[in-house]
Amino acid sequence: MSDKYAVIGNPVEHSFSPAIHAAFAAATGQDISYGKILAPLDGFGAAILKFRDGGGSGLNVTLPFKHEAWNLSEAQGMAIDANAVNTLKFERGRILGYNTDGIGLVRDLKDNLRLVLEDQRVLVMGAGGATYGVVEPLLRERAQVTIVNRTLDKAQQLVRHFQAITGIATRSIAWQSYDRLHDDRFDIVINATSAGLTDDMPPLPEGIFAGDALAYDMVYGKSTPFLEFAAAREARTADGLGMLVEQAAESFYIWRGVRPDTAPVIRALRMKAEG
Ligand code: ATR
Repeated sequence: MSDKYAVIGNPVEHSFSPAIHAAFAAATGQDISYGKILAPLDGFGAAILKFRDGGGSGLNVTLPFKHEAWNLSEAQGMAIDANAVNTLKFERGRILGYNTDGIGLVRDLKDNLRLVLEDQRVLVMGAGGATYGVVEPLLRERAQVTIVNRTLDKAQQLVRHFQAITGIATRSIAWQSYDRLHDDRFDIVINATSAGLTDDMPPLPEGIFAGDALAYDMVYGKSTPFLEFAAAREARTADGLGMLVEQAAESFYIWRGVRPDTAPVIRALRMKAEG
């Protein structure tokens, strides 16, 4: 029998994860099945135990359960300080929790978009779960990270949290408010807010992009007001499709010990998304 995996979330219907993992399995010759589980908002814990007790080997966790997954698992590596888990591995009675979102973003930026992150000025918009997941991997690449958020104390709290991690220089991460960004220029501007989902965008000043800057939206499969704003100001743009495939590849590696080739999967999904 194949080893069983799934993505669990609410909603989960439109997830690309089953298609991505099926493509990885076919390309690497791994015998797995990968489904979708819609968990009730108050029934995440029960749903993961049911899946495990039915012979499941691992889960990808998506919104809104990443923090709950962190609470219910033994967090490993960068999941410890991300306060969020997107990958669970069931191993001899233990529930191990990983966060591959940040690694996925860093790989997309470095390997697919060919950027150098060291000493680059990176602005991350938002101070919610999506930002927590990616900050430590960006700092480990020695980027200079600024967090901007509508609600300032959430940005301040996030910055203090990551400054307290051993091995991270306190000067490499700072916070700012949108209305104080006027004199700053950034090489990479990342939208980790949920604004694009409602066709809204954070209040960025005109001159936010340095020359040859990249605007990156974690939302995938659609253009967003932020990416349109960036394109109109001659920044390069990227959506979150590459990050999605790269985080999936890292989860696949955690489960199977095999690293799939991501480029053909990104190409195929891009063609599908563009219809
Ligand atoms: P997630 O876990 O996906 O990050 P979240 O915790 O609800 O979701 O956080 C959403 C983030 O998007 C927050 O940082 C939110 O800003 P506030 O903390 O000020 O609420 C940000 N956000 C949502 N809509 C926004 C908008 N229209 N403009 C700017 N920021 C927005």
